[in-house]
Amino acid sequence: MTNSGTLQQAFAACSAVLQQNRQYWQLVPFACQQLPWDNPALAEKLLALPERDLACIDQDPALQQQHLGELFCDLFQLKYHLNAPESTLIAHELKPVPFWLTNGIGGRKMAQITAFSSQIPQSDLPLLEWCAGKGHLGRLLAWQFQRPVTSVEWQQQLCADGSALASQFNIPQRFVHADVLTPQGSAVLAPQQQVVALHACGQLHIELLRQAVSKGCQQLHLVPCCYHLIPDEQYQPLSALAQQADLALSHHDLKLAVQGQVTAGVRIEKLRHTEVKWRLAYQALRAALTGDNNYQPLSSVGKHWFSGDFADFARWAADQHQLTLPAAPDWQHYLTMGAEHAALVTRIELVRHLFRRPLERWLVLDRALYLQQHGYQVQLNAFCDYQVTPRNLLLQAVRQN
Ligand SMILES: C[S@@+](CC[C@H](N)C(=O)[O-])C[C@H]1O[C@@H](n2cnc3c(N)ncnc32)[C@H](O)[C@@H]1O
Repeated sequence: MTNSGTLQQAFAACSAVLQQNRQYWQLVPFACQQLPWDNPALAEKLLALPERDLACIDQDPALQQQHLGELFCDLFQLKYHLNAPESTLIAHELKPVPFWLTNGIGGRKMAQITAFSSQIPQSDLPLLEWCAGKGHLGRLLAWQFQRPVTSVEWQQQLCADGSALASQFNIPQRFVHADVLTPQGSAVLAPQQQVVALHACGQLHIELLRQAVSKGCQQLHLVPCCYHLIPDEQYQPLSALAQQADLALSHHDLKLAVQGQVTAGVRIEKLRHTEVKWRLAYQALRAALTGDNNYQPLSSVGKHWFSGDFADFARWAADQHQLTLPAAPDWQHYLTMGAEHAALVTRIELVRHLFRRPLERWLVLDRALYLQQHGYQVQLNAFCDYQVTPRNLLLQAVRQN
């Protein structure tokens, strides 16, 4: 996706679908006690779906379309609603990477790095890696293209580990230990640079875009992630078009964009299911004790909690809400209520999740339009298969003279 008309048209199409269907995705499923829509055809469809099929449909765009396509024609007509690559990208040929250089890099991360590297055009510009972690990407780029790389990272230990790996293999990679959200951190950016950022979270990549535009960096290659990790209560759109769009996004809305996951293992899937049931079971217990049926969020906790005992989880949750539990609640009764409620919530989420990719696309297009507005020629593509990472949208921008 390259020219300005295409980006703007894609943005307008996404905006229209998201706005027209906001009742189906701008909601908190946990807070619903029944299907929240006056749509008998959808209700009939959802309630007829067997419980055991829900997770598969949720993960598979073809099944989503098969079961819900007729009810959401506008959404399924969006050219790019599926997780398929936006266009066929031409990958540059890379030298085969020796095994000793990939030690310590997980299989999926390595696949992302290879796919990302094959999209970086030849250039003599200095390379800068933004929010580098241990700088695996930077190290491999420096080796692949025989060019020096500067990697900026906030965690001292990651800088130390990355530097040690670079010197061990005699790779021209230098680490800058800095917070990129401060002027000292963003001082690493310069006009004559090719900047790369793989999976830079919310504010970290927003700051990159702002600073790169203000300093006039020559080239940017960015894979954004975690759009919800921003300090503001509400999303602040970057481009003029998104600022004019009637779409106010809360943190909860933004999280929807990253809910797409590559199918987890059976154990993780089971724990996730238990988590939903327990959270809703606790919600029923809390409502019974306080008479307050309004949903009260709880913080996130490690998955290990959900292979333990529900009573322990409920005590932790009650503590969060400063609620004293009776000595021996009828745990089983609330677990049954939780399971019933979970069956409803999963069906609501099935519908809500239809909008996660259009929302992610809307957010990335906002970034693309912002760069275009500031004189960059921009391309937006999927750089690897969705199964390798669901955060597979690559934004590439070259500053025009
Ligand atoms: C999701 S990781 C991505 C790391 C690496 N690019 C990769 O793809 O594996 C984000 C990285 O940003 C770093 N980070 C977080 N806040 C930062 C900040 N304010 N300044 C610089 N780096 C930061 C984290 O320590 C982490 O290494």
